[in-house]
Amino acid sequence: MKIAVIGLGFVGLSLTSVLASKGNNVIGIDVDVEKCKKIRSGIAPFFEPDLEKMLRIGLKKKLTITDDFSLVKDCDMIFVAAGTPQKSNGAIELSMIKKAVTSIGRVLAKSKKSPIVLIKSTVIPGTMQNVILPILERRSGKKAGREFGLISNPEFLQESSAIRDTKFPHVIVLGGYQTKFMKKAKSFFSKLHPNVSITITNHQTAEMIKYANNSFLATKISFINQLSNICQNIPGANIDDIAKTIGLDPRIGALFLNAGPGYGGSCLPKDMKALIDFANKIGINPTLLNAVEKTNQKQIQNIVSIMENTLGTLASKRITVLGTAFKPNTDDVRDSIAIELIKKLLKKKAKITVHDPKAIRNTKNVFGGKICYDESITRALNNSHCAIIMTQWKQFGELNNKSIKCMKRKLIIDCRRILANKKLDAEYYALGIGK
Ligand code: UDX
Repeated sequence: MKIAVIGLGFVGLSLTSVLASKGNNVIGIDVDVEKCKKIRSGIAPFFEPDLEKMLRIGLKKKLTITDDFSLVKDCDMIFVAAGTPQKSNGAIELSMIKKAVTSIGRVLAKSKKSPIVLIKSTVIPGTMQNVILPILERRSGKKAGREFGLISNPEFLQESSAIRDTKFPHVIVLGGYQTKFMKKAKSFFSKLHPNVSITITNHQTAEMIKYANNSFLATKISFINQLSNICQNIPGANIDDIAKTIGLDPRIGALFLNAGPGYGGSCLPKDMKALIDFANKIGINPTLLNAVEKTNQKQIQNIVSIMENTLGTLASKRITVLGTAFKPNTDDVRDSIAIELIKKLLKKKAKITVHDPKAIRNTKNVFGGKICYDESITRALNNSHCAIIMTQWKQFGELNNKSIKCMKRKLIIDCRRILANKKLDAEYYALGIGK
């Protein structure tokens, strides 16, 4: 069996590498020629734990990386993991996925195969039926369900654990019509992930499952962040003890209750906005989702207020931002709250120095010469009026009196409470701990 994966971002490249490492005959396809070159030489275009290792195992087996779409003509399964970013009004941008399926349709027109096209990209309900299916049928001149299969197969992997999540997903969702292609897809996934539950449903439900998943996670985070803000005003109260305890209730669950500066990254903020936009368009006022988003957007102001209440005006104050990646173990700064914070602080004319164990290069791509960067935490803190911990990198937990000695004013704002149990000779503020 030959498998194609189209779009070599986090989702596509993780899938390509995992499938190829298991000895499958895989073709990874991306329009970006330079990216393909890099991947072909065993280098991942972004940092993701274990990805390169998996990719290199695959490259020694039956993996081809190419920008040549025509190679999908011999494939039995074609996964599409094209990006679906966000338009300025919050709506979903479908141009990349439309291009990808148009190319697949053209190749299908000349192919003798009857492949299954599986869409992993996040798309709003109705997109499969109203956009993707018609493009594929029109361009190929073939009928879905008879001459090729079309299945919604949303992805739930998290950056920083993308390989583990691809190897051991918690669920497989297959959306579409109950055809022979669905049976084949079910059998493929049962062999690949023998003990994983498979939900078989229609396209629109599969599409909605992905949004339900991400919007619920976002809701948990905004919930705990709002409680964290309340705790901050109750002297002695500690949000972590509260989260740990309520997380023991199986009805609540322990994950995604880590209070912080708000959710960022390439998915949660985008998917929330797309779902809100979609709900509004179909005449549903998404009051809860709106509140979740608003709570998230306001969280950053909480941080700026602590700074202004302690430092006064921020103009000319040297502020060290520790962590710009949207979460630890990634170099991704897309929609990172730290990036938003820096933008706000620059408007207030603060002088920013940044340290991040992995994301300095990507941060430079955003701010260039407008801020300073340092590979060493201690040097980044030199002469600083305030250090703010934004990302939960475990290295930041090693900060001690020696490393902050060179600060001009020893003021630490800890958005992740990493230093909460340390005795530091500093003014210490932590989100979620009452003063
Ligand atoms: C998310 C979904 O979790 C994943 O299922 C989907 O496939 C893609 O989007 P990811 O973008 O990798 O994954 O990030 P995630 O781990 O969900 O974190 C998102 C943001 O929420 C980060 O900024 C993170 O710091 C924040 N977060 C997460 C918290 O502030 N507290 C938490 O308890 C969890």
